[in-house]
Amino acid sequence: QITKDYDLWLQYQKSSVANDIFKNIALNTKDETNKAIQDELKTASERMFQYSPTFSNSGNATLIIKKFSELEPTQKNIINKANALNDEGFAIETIQNKGKKTVLITAKNSLGLLYGTFRLLRELQIDPSKKHFSIADEPKLKVRMLNHWDNLDGTVERGYAGSSIWNWQKLPDFIDKKYIDYARANASVGINGVALINVNSNALILTPQYLEKVSALAKAFRPYGIKVYLTARFSAPIEIGGLKTADPLNQEVQQWWNNKVNEIYKFIPDFGGFLVKANSEGQPGPQNYGRNHVDGANMMAKALQPHHGIVLWRAFVYSETDSSDRAKQAYSEFVPYDGKFEDNVLVQVKNGAIDFQPREPFHPMFGAMPKSKLMMEYQITQEYLGFSSHLVFLPKLYEEVLESDTYKQGKGSTVAKIIEGKPNELSGMAGVANIGSDLNWTGHPFAQANWYGFGRLAWNPELSSEKIAEEWLQQTFSKDSNFVKTISKIMLQSRESVVKYMTPLGLHHIMATNHHYGPGPWVNDLARPEWNPVYYHKADKNGIGFDRTATGSNALAQYSPEIAQYYGDLKTCPEEYLLWFHHLPWDYKMKNGKILWDNLGIKYQEGVNEVKNMITTWESAKPYIDAERHQEVAQLLTIQLKEAIWWKDACMTYFQTFSNLPFPKEMETPK
Ligand code: GCU
Repeated sequence: QITKDYDLWLQYQKSSVANDIFKNIALNTKDETNKAIQDELKTASERMFQYSPTFSNSGNATLIIKKFSELEPTQKNIINKANALNDEGFAIETIQNKGKKTVLITAKNSLGLLYGTFRLLRELQIDPSKKHFSIADEPKLKVRMLNHWDNLDGTVERGYAGSSIWNWQKLPDFIDKKYIDYARANASVGINGVALINVNSNALILTPQYLEKVSALAKAFRPYGIKVYLTARFSAPIEIGGLKTADPLNQEVQQWWNNKVNEIYKFIPDFGGFLVKANSEGQPGPQNYGRNHVDGANMMAKALQPHHGIVLWRAFVYSETDSSDRAKQAYSEFVPYDGKFEDNVLVQVKNGAIDFQPREPFHPMFGAMPKSKLMMEYQITQEYLGFSSHLVFLPKLYEEVLESDTYKQGKGSTVAKIIEGKPNELSGMAGVANIGSDLNWTGHPFAQANWYGFGRLAWNPELSSEKIAEEWLQQTFSKDSNFVKTISKIMLQSRESVVKYMTPLGLHHIMATNHHYGPGPWVNDLARPEWNPVYYHKADKNGIGFDRTATGSNALAQYSPEIAQYYGDLKTCPEEYLLWFHHLPWDYKMKNGKILWDNLGIKYQEGVNEVKNMITTWESAKPYIDAERHQEVAQLLTIQLKEAIWWKDACMTYFQTFSNLPFPKEMETPK
């Protein structure tokens, strides 16, 4: 054990109560996934209960782990329960076996058994004395994946936890233990796919030299049910294939992709598929040849079909030429093509229409393409949310989006329901990873909770962020109920705090240029209008905010009439989205009777105050956890407070040059 940080939520802390559950485990260890189950149980048992399990197939088992095709007919009830589950589901049940109470984990296949094992371990980490189980669970989404934005040179785009964990130089022969621990952590929350490199990467990864390395990683991940995906640069046929064009309707190009795909499957028989960023921020795509997204995506989809691979075609498309409201672009480019994508294409849509802001209304594409499969893309790494210096519990953000009602197919068409799609059809959720070479994986110890929480919500988009925070704390730090109660409170409030001290009341994209760290609302000299923060807040002496109603960009028209009406009408528009959709005078009277300007200052101050509260609360947690992690977080919170104040002071003094009003009395005056 290098450091507690390294073990993530798989701490398996020494238990003060005994439990014989692992004494005698019936498990067939021939298959590599079952071997992974065995390794995990051994580690967990030794650490938690201080004994090594015996693995055998006979005798009085205390724990039976068996596919249900291997169960005895007398175990009908469980078989019925398990039969109703999907391929990755599992059941855990305490049964009578030869007159003794025994715990049984069963599933259709080994991967289900692995998920069931990790579930049992979660339950035991939370309550080590537990002996009675009656659980059946299954993932609601098919593709639950991390998108790494790692470059082949070891840097990570928008990565704040060190460098890439993939050591391309030492692959394929050197398999770092870290890869296995990474796979364990992912499998423990049900993540079953990883795109290894950056969406902006060049095509080198598709050359045999790299495919050999990729295949070594795929092999390491395979026992854990994790498939490897690669980003496919659209111009690859030119760059590594020597063709003159990458036109998706050109036969030679199509043949090139067919051959490339066949070659990839020779290296990686269970290859997941391609993740593609096309015609966005300067990346090549079908539009370079006068074609559209469907032409591009379907070309790759057809090449992958014989191998059951899929295409994740991103809807994040920022044109280099169109400077109208960026919030409208993806919808305009994709929605007309609803129903035209091949069956093995998932359109991967960011949660909001701008870019991973601290708060955005849900993306209007959700629900707008009922004949296509839309997949969610979240950012786990905190590009616009204080990097790995700020404690921000993102499942709260994820949950807010998933719960949003699009009204596209009537009341109750939540984003969660839309991405869940139809039973047995392809569905998914991707998260841009926050993982790097740091000893604690994610830079901030609490950023581990965002990786964990992403996985849990990809498994079940209807889980509550509160439950996720609690179970993460219990496994990662301490089961003490006092500790869990107080610290989950600050986690759950942290996302709202960052919104308040960075971009309250619907403000957005006012971060400093390029790195997006710290405030930069004044920036106004970038080459394209929509790169400049002033374009988004539109502050002038008359007021502030982006008018996206019919009198402005009319982005609202992309939502269902119910939502357009709700956000568009000042009487109903929630304060959280006020300046996202409306440009309002500084003295606009708000619900609390105070004017907009005063409310802005009050929100910024609340954000700062809440960070102060996080610091005192964290101080009170000292007796419950190890000094090392306590101190790490305490230091990071000091940075967070300093920077919350920086945000408040910088934004309010800048906006004051337009409002010409005194700071509200509730606000601490900038020094
Ligand atoms: C943001 C981010 C880029 C990234 C892009 C994307 O714009 O700043 O670094 O490449 O999103 O999602 O493709």
